[in-house]
Amino acid sequence: MTRIISASMEAIERAAAIIRDGGLVGMPTETVYGLAANACDGRAVARIFEAKGRPAFNPLIVHVNDIEAAKKIAHMNARDMAVAKEFWPGPLTLILRRRKDSGLSDLVSAGLETVAVRVPSHKTARAFIEACKTPIAAPSANRSGTLSTTTPKHVAQSLGEAVDLILADGMSEVGLESTVLDCTGDVPCILRPGAVTAEDLSEVLRCAVEYDLGDKESGEIKSPGQILRHYAPRVPVRLKAIDVRKGEALLTFGAAQFIGMRESGRQAISALPEGSVAHLSRDGDLYEAAANLFSMLHQLDRTEHKAIAVMDIPDTGVGVAINDRLRRASQT
Ligand code: TXA
Ligand code: MG
Repeated sequence: MTRIISASMEAIERAAAIIRDGGLVGMPTETVYGLAANACDGRAVARIFEAKGRPAFNPLIVHVNDIEAAKKIAHMNARDMAVAKEFWPGPLTLILRRRKDSGLSDLVSAGLETVAVRVPSHKTARAFIEACKTPIAAPSANRSGTLSTTTPKHVAQSLGEAVDLILADGMSEVGLESTVLDCTGDVPCILRPGAVTAEDLSEVLRCAVEYDLGDKESGEIKSPGQILRHYAPRVPVRLKAIDVRKGEALLTFGAAQFIGMRESGRQAISALPEGSVAHLSRDGDLYEAAANLFSMLHQLDRTEHKAIAVMDIPDTGVGVAINDRLRRASQT
C-alpha cells in the first residue's frame, strides 16, 4: 500500500527528500490534491505522466510560493502582476510566456512556449514547496480522465503504488481545480472555470473577461486539457434531474424533499437507501457544493447505481465551474 502520512514538519521534510530524489508525492492544496514532482527534473516529470496515464501533450501546472519565484520561470507584465497580487496565493492559475532560462523541464509544458503557474495558499503545500527548494509540477492527483481527488484516501485509490508518499491534510477546502486564466493574448480569457470567477477577475482587470471552455463550434482548443473527457465517474451522470429513476443515486442541491421517485411516486429522499443520496449543500451554498462535489461523486460512484442523478445547479459565480465539471462528467 502507498504510504499516507499526516503532514507534520518531519513528514514534509521526508516528502521533500523524495522530490529531490526524483520521486512523486501526493500534496494537499486548497483546490484538490496534487501529484507533485520536481518541475526541473525531466525524468521525475515523465513519471507523473506515467502514473496518471496522461497524454504527454497535456501540460502541467508549476507551483511556486510567490510572485518573485513565478517571475523566474515566466514573463509577467503589469496586468499579470495586478491579477497575481490580488489572487495569489489562491485558486488561480495563470498561463504565461515561459522564460528561456526557466530551468523547467520541457515536458512540463509539453513543448509549448507558455507555462501554467500557480501559487497555492494551503499551509502544507507552501511548507512543502519551501522545503523542496524547487518549482513543483503538480497536476490533480488522479488517473487521467477520472475524478480529481479531494482526500488522501481517494488519492491512494486513484493512483495506488504509482505515488511514493501521500502527505495527508484533510479534505481540500475549495474542492474544484483552480481557475485557469490565459494571460498570453490581448484579452485575458478563462480556459477552465474555478473558484475565482469571471466577475472577480473583471473587477481587477477593469475589462470583461470571457470564458473559452473549448466548446465553441470553431473547435479551436487553447488548453490541451479541454479536449479530454474529464472528471468522469464510472457510472453515468444525469444532469438537471427533477426526479430519480429506478436504480439511480441522487446528488442534491438545495431543498430536495420534493424530488420524487419516477416509478413509485414516492419521495426519493425517504425511499432511497442512505448510501445512495448525498447532499452537495442543503442551504444552496455554491461554495459548500464545490467543496463537496468530487468526494460525493466518488462516494456515489458504485456499480450498483445505474446512474447518478444530479439536481440543477445555478449557473452563476462558482456554479459555472461546478456545471463545467458536471457537464464533462456526464459526457460519454
Ligand atoms: O487546482 C489545480 O489547478 C490543481 C492543483 C493540484 O494545483 N492542479 C490541476 O492540474 O488541476 P491539472 O494538470 O489537472 O490541470 C491543468 C490544466 C489542464 O487542463 C492543462 O491542459 C492546462 O491546465 N494547462 C497547463 N499548462 C497549460 C498551458 N501552457 N496552456 C494552456 N493550458 C495549460
Ligand atoms: Mg486534472
